[in-house]
Order: sequence, then structure tokens, then C-alpha cells
Amino acid sequence: MVQKQSIILGIETSCDDTAIAILRGNKILSNYVATQEIHTEFGGVVPELASRAHQQNIIPVLEKGLKEANCSLSDIDAIAYSRGPGLLGSLLVGSSFAKGLSLGLNKPLLEVNHMKAHISAHFINDNASTPKFPFLCLTVSGGHTQIVLVKSFLEMEVLGNTLDDAAGEAFDKAAKMMEIPYPGGPLIDKYAKTGNHLAFPFKISSMKGYNFSFSGLKTGILYFLRQKVEENPHFIQENLNDICASVQHTIITILLKKLSKVVKDYNIHEVAIAGGVSANSELRKQLKANEVDGWKVHLPKFEYCTDNGAMIAIAGKFLFEAGQFGDLKNPPSPRLKF
Ligand code: KG4
Ligand code: ZN
Repeated sequence: MVQKQSIILGIETSCDDTAIAILRGNKILSNYVATQEIHTEFGGVVPELASRAHQQNIIPVLEKGLKEANCSLSDIDAIAYSRGPGLLGSLLVGSSFAKGLSLGLNKPLLEVNHMKAHISAHFINDNASTPKFPFLCLTVSGGHTQIVLVKSFLEMEVLGNTLDDAAGEAFDKAAKMMEIPYPGGPLIDKYAKTGNHLAFPFKISSMKGYNFSFSGLKTGILYFLRQKVEENPHFIQENLNDICASVQHTIITILLKKLSKVVKDYNIHEVAIAGGVSANSELRKQLKANEVDGWKVHLPKFEYCTDNGAMIAIAGKFLFEAGQFGDLKNPPSPRLKF
């Protein structure tokens, strides 16, 4: 007898993207993201505005998702939502919405950890490849930078963390110093393509163990730009591509140095990346290049790098199959433990 594949609704509202996906088995039926443009004019996410925009977006995004998936709410087997980490006001919108649906439809609720979900996105069936257990995942987003040992769909152990800024934050803050609009990561990636990454050498931080630090780099870039602009007010405009390439090169070098150390120490060559910064073209290229040293590198599809509902749905599916259901009484958690 063929078993019916479960249909999971995934709801993501942890930061500034309102995202909903519908998953059947390991296949995405629809995956909608409403990116909030409002934050661009403020140079970063304004939490209060993010919560309000989630309120406005969430019903239309659900309606679009259901239509594209050719589903009705009664087809859904369970509702997965991002419980944290993230911005409390943003999380409250998604969690209240998920709880309302769970109560109204009498379907189980699944509490997903946003950071684990970034990793779970690798198991959606339309990625170029699927990692085998155990594997290492470098999870690089706007709020986190982690190296995770992934033992199974649900067992994951953080080996290294950032002690201050995240890699995405380093991209965004460097961009802000150059008056590149938020989020600066994708634009630095774009400008860096025609720049010389050796033009301006920045200091590579060296932390003990597997942890990261990016705050020193941030200060280094700030002082460097301040001095150069004093000498030549047009310095940034005249050297934008070289500065972007140099900043990007430094961030990637810091990330890959640590990742290589973990690969060597754990003797695990199965390596994945996840999170918004995993969309970075140079990081993807340099990681792939390590395959000549025996690494097997897994790069997520672009739409599964930055925040999305698909990753919440697939992470929810693993909880659903394990019978790990959520509780309507549990509040969202901005600092949800891994
Ligand atoms: O995972 P994500 O969508 O949200 C969080 O959970 O934080 O990551 C957003 C981060 C932002 O800092 C953004 O600048 C960065 O990912 N990002 C990139 C690129 N695309 C997004 N950074 C560098 N290069 C990119 N192509
Ligand atoms: Zn994220």
C-alpha cells in the first residue's frame, strides 16, 4: 500500500520576510516570500515596522501559496512555524497565526528552530545534491554564524559560533559604511565581481577553537574608510568594487579558515552551507573549489538560502514524523536555544 505523503504548511516570520510554503513529502508545492522593502530607507530592519508588515502580508501570502499549490486548508496535515530565534514582534505574528490555524483546523502545531531549518532546507528534493550524515554545515545568516555537526534530521550540535557580529551583519554593516542600501550583502557580492580582492588587505581575526569574530573587521573597515575619505572625499565611489571585493574576501577567508579546521579535526568531508550568506557567489565558488581536496560540497538552491517558508516546512516534517508536536501554550522565543 502506498502511504499518503504528509502536507505541511511552513510559516516564517522571524525577521523581515513574510514567507509561507506548502510541502508534500519532500517536494515544495509553493514557496512565497513577501520581502519588506520598508526597511531599506532606514538602513536596517526596524522591528516595529517588521511586525506591522507581517500582519499586512501574512494572509495574502497564505492565499497565494494555497492557490499555487492547488490546495485548500483542509488538505494540510500540520502547521509548522518559526518559534525563534528572531525578533519577538515578528515571531509573535507568525506564531499567533500558526496557533490560530492549528486550533481552527484541529491540526498539529510544529515548533521549528529557525537556524536548524536553514540546514534542513538541504533535504528539499529539488536541491542539486543532498548531504549524507554526518555532515558539517556552515550556517551564515544576518544574525548567526555557526558551524554545526549534523548527525541526523533532528540531532544537530553547534561546534562553533560567532562571539559578536554575524557574517551577514559584517556584510550589511560594511555596506552601510559605503552607503550601499540594506541588505548590503547581495550588493557587495555584485560589486565585488569586478573588483580586486587584494586591493585593500584587512586583518583576518583569529579566535581560539571554532568560534568566529567579526567586530574587529567592522572597526577596521570603519577606520580605514574614515582615513581614506579624509584624504579623498570620493575614495569610496572611485574604489567601490575593490573595497567590496576586499571586504568580501576577508569575510570568506575568516569563514573558510575555521571550516577547514573543523573538517580536518573531525575528518568529515561532507560539507554544506546554509543561511542568507550562503547565496554569496564567491563563497559558493571557493567552497566548491575545495572538492579537489576531497570535500563533498552541498550548496542550497538560491531560494532556500535567505529566509523562506520551505525550510520551515521541511524542518516541521521531520518533527511531524518523529511525533514531536508543539504546544499552543509555548510562546515564541527570540533567543530560542539550538
Ligand atoms: O538567513 P537570512 O535571510 O536572514 C537571517 O536569518 O538573518 O540572512 C540574511 C543575510 C543578510 O545579512 C544579507 O545581507 C545576507 O544574508 N546575504 C548575503 C547575500 N545574500 C544575502 N550576503 C552576502 N552575499 C549575498 N549574495
Ligand atoms: Zn535566517
